Amino acid sequence: MERGLTLLVAALMLFVAPGVKGTAHLSFANNTQVNITRAGCGVSKLCVETPGKCDPAGNTTCLFASVVASAPMAPNGTNLSIELRGNSLGYIALGLAVNASEGTTMLFVCAQNRSDNGTFFFRTMQRNNTDAALSPTETRVTEIRGLVTGDVIQCEFNVPSLNATNTRSSASTTFTVLLGTGTFDGNALGPFNISLNSGLLNIADPANNVATTAAPTTMNSTTTSGASSVLHPHALPLLLCVLTLFVKQRA
Ligand SMILES: *[C@@H]1O[C@H](CO)[C@@H](O)[C@H](O)[C@H]1NC(C)=O
Ligand SMILES: *[C@@H]1O[C@H](CO)[C@@H](O)[C@H](O)[C@H]1NC(C)=O
Ligand SMILES: *[C@@H]1O[C@H](CO)[C@@H](O)[C@H](O)[C@H]1NC(C)=O
Ligand SMILES: *[C@@H]1O[C@H](CO)[C@@H](O)[C@H](O)[C@H]1NC(C)=O
Ligand SMILES: *[C@@H]1O[C@H](CO)[C@@H](O)[C@H](O)[C@H]1NC(C)=O
Ligand SMILES: *[C@@H]1O[C@H](CO)[C@@H](O)[C@H](O)[C@H]1NC(C)=O
Ligand SMILES: *[C@@H]1O[C@H](CO)[C@@H](O)[C@H](O)[C@H]1NC(C)=O
Ligand SMILES: *[C@@H]1O[C@H](CO)[C@@H](O)[C@H](O)[C@H]1NC(C)=O
Ligand SMILES: *[C@@H]1O[C@H](CO)[C@@H](O)[C@H](O)[C@H]1NC(C)=O
Ligand SMILES: *[C@@H]1O[C@H](CO)[C@@H](O)[C@H](O)[C@H]1NC(C)=O
Repeated sequence: MERGLTLLVAALMLFVAPGVKGTAHLSFANNTQVNITRAGCGVSKLCVETPGKCDPAGNTTCLFASVVASAPMAPNGTNLSIELRGNSLGYIALGLAVNASEGTTMLFVCAQNRSDNGTFFFRTMQRNNTDAALSPTETRVTEIRGLVTGDVIQCEFNVPSLNATNTRSSASTTFTVLLGTGTFDGNALGPFNISLNSGLLNIADPANNVATTAAPTTMNSTTTSGASSVLHPHALPLLLCVLTLFVKQRA
């Protein structure tokens, strides 16, 4: 018995200034399937997965993510297009960090609500890498699509204008990518259990993760002057998107 819930949301929430809530743009489209495959891995998209080389379109346990990043363009940053697929009765998540053991991680969470027949929902969180605490944040995310089939959660979303200069000062598309899972009890997300730590990757280079322990490269010479390479947690966008806006149920 297979049952899917498709949620398709394009949402943009802007918080113009502290205490001023901006507009939320919501739009919907029907009949869009989430279809996550390895096609293009290493060529047109950067793929990370555990276990190695597992097939997101297949039947086995596979935690997989792909990232396509536009060339960073000052001052707006990089646009990311992300696919995420994994097995969980709670949530799966992709994290972007500079150093997974200090500072903070930007966490993009795709989840199912077992208290509500496995309804898909999406959240962005900030993880304190020191004490692993999760807190809601606001990050602009658009075109969220999600599909839940049993314990398989698949989602796709875009992160426009990721302003990497806010989170790091060196090569602006170099991040550590984290993949993991966690529980959801109907109210709160459980701890983020990290299954994969990619090490530093240039997420704009699809072939960058051939060696998972690649040293940070110096190919990007646009290092911001006068700043350390340490992530400044307070500089992360403190915005929250909780979007469960449209649910299309399929037999
Ligand atoms: C998913 O995409 C692949 C290629 O991108 C295609 O071959 C396949 O038929 C698609 N599957 C579905 C269910 O749309
Ligand atoms: C999926 O897995 C089930 C059992 O785990 C197996 O019976 C089935 O043939 C598999 N389907 C595909 C398409 O691999
Ligand atoms: C990011 O996407 C926006 C539209 O969503 C586009 O206007 C902008 O040029 C893109 N930026 C880059 C660096 O591709
Ligand atoms: C930066 O974003 C603004 C507002 O979204 C847009 O008008 C401008 O064209 C963008 N610039 C670049 C270089 O993408
Ligand atoms: C990105 O960050 C830089 C440095 O903090 C800032 O100058 C720039 O205005 C930011 N751009 C956007 C679109 O937020
Ligand atoms: C990450 O942070 C830890 C703890 O602060 C530090 O020991 C380590 O050197 C850092 N790694 C990198 C690559 O900066
Ligand atoms: C999960 O489902 C329960 C029961 O329908 C509901 O009260 C709760 O708000 C849902 N949570 C989310 C995040 O959708
Ligand atoms: C879950 O689905 C069943 C059958 O489709 C339905 O009877 C029940 O009301 C649903 N429960 C919730 C919380 O939506
Ligand atoms: C992260 O947790 C540590 C230890 O609890 C705390 O000292 C630090 O202020 C926290 N950082 C952020 C950004 O919340
Ligand atoms: C974390 O995930 C691993 C498998 O990746 C699992 O063996 C372990 O039990 C999980 N830990 C928790 C606390 O859920």
